[in-house]
Amino acid sequence: MIILGIESSCDDTGVALVEDGRRVLASCVSNQTSIHAAFGGVVPEIAAREHLSNIYPLYEQALKLSGLRPEQIDAVAVTQGPGLIGALLVGISYAKGLASSLEIPLIPVDHVHAHIHGALLGLPSEVALQDLFPGLALVVSGGHTHLYLMRSPTEFTLVASSVDDACGECFDKVAKVLGLPYPGGPAIEALARGGNAQRFPMPRMLANRKHLAFSYSGLKTHMASTIRSLGEVTDQDKADLCAAFQEEAFGQIVRKVKLASAQISVPLKSLLVAGGVAANKRFREILAAELRFKAYFPQLQYCADNGAMIAAYAWHRYQQANDKALFGEQSWDAYSSYRYAEAVRHGS
Ligand code: KG4
Ligand code: ZN
Repeated sequence: MIILGIESSCDDTGVALVEDGRRVLASCVSNQTSIHAAFGGVVPEIAAREHLSNIYPLYEQALKLSGLRPEQIDAVAVTQGPGLIGALLVGISYAKGLASSLEIPLIPVDHVHAHIHGALLGLPSEVALQDLFPGLALVVSGGHTHLYLMRSPTEFTLVASSVDDACGECFDKVAKVLGLPYPGGPAIEALARGGNAQRFPMPRMLANRKHLAFSYSGLKTHMASTIRSLGEVTDQDKADLCAAFQEEAFGQIVRKVKLASAQISVPLKSLLVAGGVAANKRFREILAAELRFKAYFPQLQYCADNGAMIAAYAWHRYQQANDKALFGEQSWDAYSSYRYAEAVRHGS
C-alpha cells in the first residue's frame, strides 16, 4: 500500500511517498529556517504562506523521484495537529482536495506520535516490531518533551511531559541569550564539543521529585543569569556554558526515563527517540551509556519534520482500524495547540 504523507504543522513542508509503512520511495522537505532566522523564531503567517507556495512543487517532486503516477497512490495522510493553525490548514486542505480528486482514503495523524515513526523508519531491516514493544518513546523537539509508553505502533500513553518549556525550545532560548543563531540546538552542540562541562554548576531540574514531568524554564533562567553575571563572555566561556547546559538538559531526560521504567510494571524492550533534538550526538551517547534497554534513534533526515513519518504512521493506523470507511470521511477539523489537551485526552 502506497501512502502519500503531507506535513505542514510548523516551518517545514514535507511530502513523501512510503510503501507499507517502511519503504520510503521519496521524501521531499522544504525548510524555512533561513526565512524565520531573522525573527529569532517561527512567524506563523509567514510559515503558512511558505507552505502554500511549496506544497505543490514538493508533491510533483515526490512523484518524479518515485517514478509513480498519482493513480498509484492508495491513500493520503496528513498532519491533523498539533501545530500552527494557519500552517496546518494549508496541508490539510491540500490533502483533502487530493484525496477527494483521486477518490482514495484520507488518514489524519497526530504530529507528535508521527515523530516516533520517523525513528522507526531508520531502523535496520533485521529489527522487528515485536522486538520494540512494549517500550518507551520520547519526542524531544522545539515544541514537545513527551515520554510515552507504547504497547504497539499505534498505542500511545502519555507518561510525562514538560510543565513549562520544551527541551528544544530551551536550547533555542539559551542560544539567543548567547548570541547564537536560530535554531539553537546545532549551535550549542557544536560549541559544547570544545567546552568543560564541569566549570559551571547547573541546577538539577526536578531531581528530587518522584513524579514524572520535565521542566526546562529554571535551567534557562539559570543560564541567563550566569551569562549576565559574567559580564563579558569569551568564546571559552560560551563553550563551557554550552557543555554544562547540554549535560543537564539531557541528564534530566535520563533521570526521568529511568524513573518511568522503574514505575511502569510492564517489562520494557526499547526506547525510541525522536524529534529535532534527537539529532544531537552527545544525547545519543548519554542515552546509549545510561539505559539498560536499547535506545533507537531516527536517521538524521527523519529527526526534523518530514512527510515520511506521517505516511509511515498512517499505514499502521490504517492497518489497525476496524472501520476503514471512517477514512473516507473528510468532516474532521485541524487541532492546534489550543485543542491539543483535548486531543491527548481522547488519545487521537
Ligand atoms: O522536531 P523539530 O524539527 O521541530 C519541532 O519542534 O517540531 O525540532 C526542532 C528543535 C529545535 O528546538 C532545535 O534547536 C532542536 O530541535 N535541535 C537540536 C539539535 N538539532 C535541532 N537540539 C539539540 N541538538 C541538536 N543537534
Ligand atoms: Zn515536529
